[in-house]
Amino acid sequence: MTLDGEARLAGVLGWPIAHSRSPRLHGHWLAQYRIKGAYVPLAVHPDDLERAVEGLVALGFRGANVTLPHKERVAALCDRVSERARRIGAVNTLVVRDGRVEGDNSDGFGFIENLKEREDAWEPTRPAVVLGAGGAARAILVALLEAGVREIRLLNRTRARAEALAEELGRNIRVLDWGTWDDALGETGLLVNTTSLGMSGQPPLEIDLRALPASALVNDIVYVPLETPLLAAARARGNPAVDGLGMLLHQARPGFEAWFGVAPQVTPALRQAVLEA
Ligand SMILES: NC(=O)c1ccc[n+]([C@@H]2O[C@H](COP(=O)([O-])OP(=O)(O)OC[C@H]3O[C@@H](n4cnc5c(N)ncnc54)[C@H](OP(=O)(O)O)[C@@H]3O)[C@@H](O)[C@H]2O)c1
Repeated sequence: MTLDGEARLAGVLGWPIAHSRSPRLHGHWLAQYRIKGAYVPLAVHPDDLERAVEGLVALGFRGANVTLPHKERVAALCDRVSERARRIGAVNTLVVRDGRVEGDNSDGFGFIENLKEREDAWEPTRPAVVLGAGGAARAILVALLEAGVREIRLLNRTRARAEALAEELGRNIRVLDWGTWDDALGETGLLVNTTSLGMSGQPPLEIDLRALPASALVNDIVYVPLETPLLAAARARGNPAVDGLGMLLHQARPGFEAWFGVAPQVTPALRQAVLEA
C-alpha cells in the first residue's frame, strides 16, 4: 500500500536486528488488514538506545518492539512501565501516547495464549515444570503464577540462577537440580523448555521423560526447528504438545493493536509467512 502522511509507524529496536522475524510478522498483518502503516527493523547500537527512544517520539512513531540486548535497559527510559513488565524486569513493547512512552512486556501473554491452543490438555491446578532460568523463563514464570499455577518446579543448569528467580518471584517456585527428571516430572500437568537446548546449532536437550504423566502438556519455546527433539519425543509417547512459534506470534498482538488499531488474529497463513522468513 502506498504510504502518505497519515501512515502509522512502528518498528523493532535491536542490535543486531537483521534476523528479527517481527517485520515479516507485522508486515503480514498490515497487508492482511489493509492498514496504511509500516513496521520497520531499527538497528540501534546499545550506546544509542536513549536517543533512539526519544527519536521514536520525535518522529511520530506509534511505538515499537524492543529485542536483545535492550529489553532490560529500555525500562528506565519509559515514562511508565506496566506492572507485568516490572515483575518480569524487561520491556518488549513500547507505545507512544501523547508524547509519553509506555513500556509493557507481552512475552508471558504470548506464552499463555499459545498454550491455549491445547487448552483442553492443560490443567493449571497441576504442578508445572520449567527448564531454564534465563530471560524467557522469567516472563513464563510470571505468566504461570498469574495463571494460578500453585507449584512450579524450576530446573536450571546453573542452580544459583534458578534460586535467585525463585527468591524474587515467590514461594510457589521450587528449585530442583538439573537432571533430576524423575523427581521433577511426576504428577506434572505441564513441561516447558525455555533453555536454548534443542535449537539448531545448540546441543540437544537430554531429558528422560519416563516419569512424565501421559496427559501432561509439553511446550518447547525453541521454534528453530519447529518440531524439536523434545516435542517429537513427547508426541511419540502420546503427550499433547505445542510448539514455540505461537508464543512469538501471540506476543506481537498487543503491540499491533495499540499501534495500528486492529486486534490481529494468529492464523495458519501468518505461521507460514513467518516460517518462510
Ligand atoms: N518462542 C518465543 O517466542 C521465544 C521467546 C524468547 C526466547 N525464545 C527462545 O528461548 C531460548 C532461551 O532464550 P532466553 O532469552 O531465555 O536465553 P538466555 O537468557 O540466554 O537463557 C538461556 C537458558 O538456557 C540455558 N542453557 C544454555 N545452554 C545450556 C546447556 N548447554 N545446558 C543446559 N542449559 C543451558 C541457560 O542455563 P544457564 O543459566 O545455566 O546458563 C539458561 O537457562 C532461546 O532459544 C530463544 O530463541 C523463544
